[in-house]
Amino acid sequence: MDKEKWKQHLSEIYSCKKCALHETKTNYVVGKGNPSAKIMLVGEAPGKWEDIKGEPFVGRAGKFLDSLLQEIGLTLNEVFITNILKCRPPNNRDPSEEEVVKCTPHLDKEISLINPVIIAALGRHSMKFLFKKYNIPYEPISKIHGKHFPIHSLLGRKYLVALYHPAVALYNPGMKEVLKKDFQAIKKLV
Ligand code: URA
Repeated sequence: MDKEKWKQHLSEIYSCKKCALHETKTNYVVGKGNPSAKIMLVGEAPGKWEDIKGEPFVGRAGKFLDSLLQEIGLTLNEVFITNILKCRPPNNRDPSEEEVVKCTPHLDKEISLINPVIIAALGRHSMKFLFKKYNIPYEPISKIHGKHFPIHSLLGRKYLVALYHPAVALYNPGMKEVLKKDFQAIKKLV
């Protein structure tokens, strides 16, 4: 990891005004964990608590994500956790296409600087963006959750893993076991 480039990347996020979300957010939410990790998890967008604290996945979905990672023996030092959007959409609405287009150059930069071996897409917004980025035919999450797909890269073997967003288990507790089982896909690739 080139520290200067990383600092530059963070300052680009902290000064971003490319979409209107910077006007309504409290804090920019940059990724957390280890920027030299081999595993990257990509969520959707900051929610209320992430916006207040300036850190991804610190609310209820974040607590569940922590437990999913713990179950497969991973600590925050072994992963990097980030989002498609770096600012909270008001009332946690879905990201708009325009916001995704304007914000994802930050994610592209994160991916190229971190160069992870495994990228786990959490939820359909993240899947939609990442499947398109890597030219993998997109299928409904209900069909491909827990599966991994090779990413064709000049930088060696890489995989994209499709996972449900941890927040689904907050509304549908039956999904907890599905997510636990699907997270094993990451463990198998490590
Ligand atoms: N949901 C997300 O997708 N990202 C967060 O940071 C928190 C909740």
